[in-house]
Amino acid sequence: MAERKLFFNLDDQGPIAESLRVLRTNIQFIDEKEKKTVVVTSSIPKEGKSFIAANYAMSEALVGKKVLLLDCDLRRPRAHSSFGIKGHHGLGEVLMGEKNVEDLIVREVERNLDLLPTKHLEHNVTELLQSKKMKSLLKKLQESYDLVVMDTAPLIVATDAAILSKVSDGVIFVNGYDMTSKKELMYAKEILSSAGANIYGMVVNKIDHSGYGYGYKNHGYYNYNYKYYQDYIKEDK
Ligand SMILES: Nc1ncnc2c1ncn2[C@@H]1O[C@H](COP(=O)(O)OP(=O)(O)OP(=O)(O)O)[C@@H](O)[C@H]1O
Ligand SMILES: [Mg+2]
Repeated sequence: MAERKLFFNLDDQGPIAESLRVLRTNIQFIDEKEKKTVVVTSSIPKEGKSFIAANYAMSEALVGKKVLLLDCDLRRPRAHSSFGIKGHHGLGEVLMGEKNVEDLIVREVERNLDLLPTKHLEHNVTELLQSKKMKSLLKKLQESYDLVVMDTAPLIVATDAAILSKVSDGVIFVNGYDMTSKKELMYAKEILSSAGANIYGMVVNKIDHSGYGYGYKNHGYYNYNYKYYQDYIKEDK
């Protein structure tokens, strides 16, 4: 079984658990609506979208909300990985009309938390995410859950998150510390702004105890979407 990556339980006093509590509280202050749909995205790969999406979903489930974590990153599906389960079928097949959503939701991956994973798709992803089918699916899911958290692809790879922001209440923008150039950040912000996204705020992720980023440093990326796209797809195989 894969490793679980949830940094959270009610008595956890660790710094990450505390930061996630702050994130939950801040979003509740910013948007007081009881029922919400939230997009989690970032500018480039690996900044921690799936990690933050899963842990934010978990933090709300812990306080009694009925939550669905929806893997909308059909290009590199990972939402399942935080729960130590294998991702397989899900949103992709539902949008292609092959399967019924009720049969693919993984119930209670944690208390109060359901997951709709997805399989990897390479083609027509943006089209599927902006289809009528996606809109009606989301409407149906929003009736059943207090909170829907959408894990998405990075904006430099695709505009999926901007498209989804139109059917959400707000966006959590994840920024891996020292991972992005200013140009990449501005690019991502521009895409979200032109879609009219309601950006709740930015989560600065991957800061170690000494205050420095970990993982990898910014070695100077080019704002060259096609290259990112190719690498993004390749890495999933
Ligand atoms: N705050 C954190 N603490 C510990 N590990 C983290 C943290 N944030 C991210 N990670 C780890 O870093 C790796 C990349 O994170 P994640 O998969 O969430 O990034 P992503 O932005 O969703 O990537 P992709 O663009 O590929 O979808 C994962 O192994 C994840 O568990
Ligand atoms: Mg991810």
